[in-house]
Amino acid sequence: MQKLKYITTSAAVAFTEVRVKRLNRIQIMRRRLLQWLVCPLCHHALTLGIIVSKQQLPAEEDYQILEAIAPIEDPAQVEIDIISGVLACDACRIYYPIYNGIPRMLVYPTRVAQLHAQENRTWLTTHLAGFDLPQRIPPPGEQEVLRNFSTEWVGYRWTGASYWSLTPDMVLRCKRYELGLYRRNIKHRLVLEVGIGIGGTADALSRAESCELVGMDLGYAVDQAQYYFGQNPLLHLVQASVFAPPFRPGSFDVVYSHGVLHHTYSTRAAFTQIARLPKQANGMLYVWVYSHDQEQATPLRRVGNWAE
Ligand SMILES: C[S@@+](CC[C@H](N)C(=O)[O-])C[C@H]1O[C@@H](n2cnc3c(N)ncnc32)[C@H](O)[C@@H]1O
Ligand SMILES: [Zn+2]
Repeated sequence: MQKLKYITTSAAVAFTEVRVKRLNRIQIMRRRLLQWLVCPLCHHALTLGIIVSKQQLPAEEDYQILEAIAPIEDPAQVEIDIISGVLACDACRIYYPIYNGIPRMLVYPTRVAQLHAQENRTWLTTHLAGFDLPQRIPPPGEQEVLRNFSTEWVGYRWTGASYWSLTPDMVLRCKRYELGLYRRNIKHRLVLEVGIGIGGTADALSRAESCELVGMDLGYAVDQAQYYFGQNPLLHLVQASVFAPPFRPGSFDVVYSHGVLHHTYSTRAAFTQIARLPKQANGMLYVWVYSHDQEQATPLRRVGNWAE
């Protein structure tokens, strides 16, 4: 798979599910993220195909943090960022698009995958013959949740001054308390946030604690997170579902999820999936969900409870 030249664009991108505005910032996937990604269907390693990439050197201080978390064997891991490309699974003969610099790891058809296919038809035919997009059936209600939260986040403007009614400092203090960081040090640790939303908490936490953080979300919140925090070299973004997490089990020192699992058809099934992701030795999982009464308030949850 060949590397093509770097381009920059400020086009507005319309997805059927929701409209995402790509403004004047460059969207990138750091190549280093690949070491933790696997095919969400079979857990096979993925092959990276680069369509558009860019060289960008991290600051020395960030380089040292990344080196302490996982040794940098090849400088390209941290110096070559991917704007557009594919992650291919040889076992499934399936590929996952990298679009707007974000790996799109949902296992059912999406508009963003279609757009990627249209925009890169020639490249895909030349370099990836015999590979298809994933065609699984989405979990119950998931496409509606994707649509609703995407609309909410895409309309949200991060001002840096407040997060809903909280200041970034208050958000950080809450998160430190929730994760018990007064007795557990996550400096130079690998952390996963499940349901990252717009990414304000993840950005602040990774910078304050000098940890490397992967943020996963079902919806186009990831594009907003990329827009606002894409320049943070300690933060990675992935679009994926808790029902098919694209990570090797036992990869993370800390996995946390706040206000997410109860939005699925089955909190229990979602919890079972992410419970596999922390490291076996000293890994930590933190989950915050609505109370039973709160979740009864949503129609999807009433159906979900009945199904469980
Ligand atoms: C209420 S928001 C919480 C966001 C963030 N954790 C916070 O505390 O501000 C719920 C988030 O969960 C995401 N989400 C819902 N279902 C999901 C799923 N199946 N997999 C991954 N993320 C999901 C939504 O897209 C949304 O961004
Ligand atoms: Zn596979």
